Amino acid sequence: NADNYITVLGDKYPKDSKTNITSAIMDKLERKLHLQPSHPIGILRSMIETHYPGFTALSNFSPVVTPAMNFDDLSFPLDHPGRSLTDSYYINSDHMLRTHTSAHEVETFAKGIRQWLLTADVYRRDEIDGSHYPVFHQMEGARIFHDNPNGIKDLEEDNARLSAHLAKSNIVIEDVPHVTSTNPAQVSHNPKHAELVALNLKLSLNSLILDLFGGRAGAGEGEPLRVRWIEAYFPFTSPSYEVEVFFGGKWLEILGCGVVLQSTLDKANVPNSIGWAFGLGLERIAMILYSIPDIRLFWSQDPRFSSQFTPGQINTFKPFSRYPACYKDVSFWLPDKALHENDFCDLVRDAAGDFAEDVKLVDAFTHPKTGRSSQCFRINYRSMDR
Ligand code: PHE
Repeated sequence: NADNYITVLGDKYPKDSKTNITSAIMDKLERKLHLQPSHPIGILRSMIETHYPGFTALSNFSPVVTPAMNFDDLSFPLDHPGRSLTDSYYINSDHMLRTHTSAHEVETFAKGIRQWLLTADVYRRDEIDGSHYPVFHQMEGARIFHDNPNGIKDLEEDNARLSAHLAKSNIVIEDVPHVTSTNPAQVSHNPKHAELVALNLKLSLNSLILDLFGGRAGAGEGEPLRVRWIEAYFPFTSPSYEVEVFFGGKWLEILGCGVVLQSTLDKANVPNSIGWAFGLGLERIAMILYSIPDIRLFWSQDPRFSSQFTPGQINTFKPFSRYPACYKDVSFWLPDKALHENDFCDLVRDAAGDFAEDVKLVDAFTHPKTGRSSQCFRINYRSMDR
């Protein structure tokens, strides 16, 4: 029976109780915006690749991965919320759409590649609004050093080179200590080497951020570029950080990163090495740099969008006629089994596609006698281009 199977990118998978991928999502799998040379996501990818000469650029990995690649190999605990059906798209129990580019860390390190950039579309179930979309793009960057006197010498030389470059640039960095009791180095690491790797990570990213954002109007006329480092937590790095950039009068989070967990490198069979990884959100950065007001625009095939961009260039996007918002409220009794807001949002996306700009829960009611509950959602329909 054809209904018992689902075909994803040409491969047939048996459906099971975990299958929750929708047809609106299936339509996105072939688009590969990051490979289009004149699309803002593709332009940004090649600008970042140019910033890191000597790094291997990878951008053709299938979005279909195993939960082992996406979670287990990266030490996600079994009860991590990211694994749930309400947060991730499953093809079946054994296959899912990657939720982050980190899903390819082990296989890439296992190929013997020691410094690389990997760009890909990633998938997460989410609410609907102007800055959230269930498909977006990430770039993972990683670099490992030999944990021996020669490797550490390379590391120290690279740190000196990057520090000298940043010292003569118009950038102000709010830093955090590399290592603290709440953001520790790994027990298997020489603490001095871990600090040098964390410093290299910070210098490498500060210099990328300077390259991308420095001297642009949103950073403040004649003002230095401001970058802020924050202690963070990820299951697969320690210490870990998040980075924010001050742009357009606001602090904006653009990436997560850290020193790669030794167990990840062990899985990849790379001995005697120590290094870092980062994952940056390309839509987030492109929306800031190009002043693109709505995340749905990246998926527009209207020439009034696509004709505005040129490879190697960052220009301010000129919005074309915006149509009026059209609000419709829908209310219904809830099923006995609870309804997750992400399930409702996927239903809306499947029916309305990109016409749905925003979905908000505006009212909830429980009948005093019967105990039944209802909810009311306000859907804002607005076409981007017609
Ligand atoms: N994969 C993480 C995310 O999507 C980001 C990250 C990448 C963090 C690499 C640390 C190291 O949030």
